[in-house]
Amino acid sequence: MRDTIAILDFGSQTSHLIARRVREAQVYCELFPYDAPAEDILAVNPSGYILSGGPASIYEENAPRIPGFILESGQPILGICYGMQAIADALGGEVAPAQSREYGAAEIHVDDGDGLLEVGSQQVWMSHGDRVEVLPGGFQVIASSKNSPHAAIGDQTARIYGLQFHPEVEHTLGGGEILRRFVVDICGASADWSPSSIVPKAIRSIQQQVDEGSAIAAVSGGVDSAVASVLAYRALGERLECVFVDTGLLRSGEQAMVAASLSPLLGGQLQVIDASERFLGSLIGITDPEQKRRVIGEQFIRVFEGAAEHIRRPRFLVQGTIYPDVVESSGKDREVAARIKTHHNVGGLPADMDFALVEPLRFLFKDEVRSVGRELDLPDELLERHPFPGPGLAIRCLGEVTLTRLEQLRRADRILTDELHSHKVAQAFAVLLPVRSVGVMGDQRTYGETIALRVVATEDFMTADWARLPHDLLARISSRIVNEVSDINRVVYDITSKPPATIEWE
Ligand code: XMP
Repeated sequence: MRDTIAILDFGSQTSHLIARRVREAQVYCELFPYDAPAEDILAVNPSGYILSGGPASIYEENAPRIPGFILESGQPILGICYGMQAIADALGGEVAPAQSREYGAAEIHVDDGDGLLEVGSQQVWMSHGDRVEVLPGGFQVIASSKNSPHAAIGDQTARIYGLQFHPEVEHTLGGGEILRRFVVDICGASADWSPSSIVPKAIRSIQQQVDEGSAIAAVSGGVDSAVASVLAYRALGERLECVFVDTGLLRSGEQAMVAASLSPLLGGQLQVIDASERFLGSLIGITDPEQKRRVIGEQFIRVFEGAAEHIRRPRFLVQGTIYPDVVESSGKDREVAARIKTHHNVGGLPADMDFALVEPLRFLFKDEVRSVGRELDLPDELLERHPFPGPGLAIRCLGEVTLTRLEQLRRADRILTDELHSHKVAQAFAVLLPVRSVGVMGDQRTYGETIALRVVATEDFMTADWARLPHDLLARISSRIVNEVSDINRVVYDITSKPPATIEWE
């Protein structure tokens, strides 16, 4: 069994970043809700535990606590912010509100880092209202700052450590190294994990799960489903049927491009189903985003079921669900949480579907999926594509989805993509807003709808910032859209980060 670090999530906005940093240190890790069943956590045989930050105060009633089996495990534990306070509280220390809350950059001083921190001064990122006032027995201070005398603490014998600051965020310079030291030097995990190392194991586990059965892979043209289906094809060969559903909600030129680049990797077996009429028909009159997703999810499954009618049971559906889909909705019940996001993955799968799911990428981040794709020889034109949601343009066409509005959106989106060609951005798309405004073209008054441009920089799509595009590029895009797309007379640029917004508008 490979070495695994278990990260317990106490609700911090940056818990997933801890997972990323640990994986960057080439150590595999999984994120669990803090109250996940012990058997789920123990099933990965953790080499050590990291406890995330979180919004609660440990001295409040019902504050989340560290499960006893972790404290008694004898394995190394690293608590970050709330995680540190929870350790102090559990082991007999004292936590209290700090006199002043501390947010932002701070400098810590380390005399003896206990193998966890480098000796000297270092910039870190603080974000806390509470602090550890009295250390538990056996603990020493290993770093201090002006406002935090206990910026880092440790009990070297028990191998339990606490950091008041956040090593996972990039503003903590050298934070990745701190986490590497913890997982490799202190927990003793071997640094030999890489995303592509999952390939042989993923193929074996697909073979085990599907056994003598057959599967259908739903390809959307996006990176995740392409990688998942090529993995499944390597595992199952002829027993895998690959379908690409043209929902009528695809981007300009997408059907032809996807079919041409993906089919050869699937033994030439990619079946393209034109289901645009039924998808668009079922969306008539629907404007609510959640209802759009449900209607689309339902149609997808009915199309897959039709395509799989001749396949003998048990039947499996291969999906490109990735880790953010699982983590973003993780809650008390991991099974339920996972299911909700599986729905999210194609936009709301009905409960009565006649398939078991195969999700070979459910523990990988987006850029890790790309590494797996490279290992599987997927062409760059597929791997470098921007993510595209399962419900397609329906959730970018705000208001009612009609043929005319879809065509406007497609043309605007195409202009944006063409103009951006040399700018590397994580994701860029146009959104059609059902908002009319007054304009003037020539001597005529116009009253047209609005295109919003969404262009983001992000590594893992769980947080994102809007891209600072050059103004002349934005001007060119805007002018082309109002000139070339009928009935659009206004273009706006979305300058909201995620959080608080999401990347998509619906
Ligand atoms: P949000 O909007 O949640 O998006 O910030 C994060 C990333 O996920 C994509 N996304 C989806 N992908 N089905 C998908 O397969 C969906 O229903 C869906 N909704 C959002 C989005 O494009 C972004 O890359």
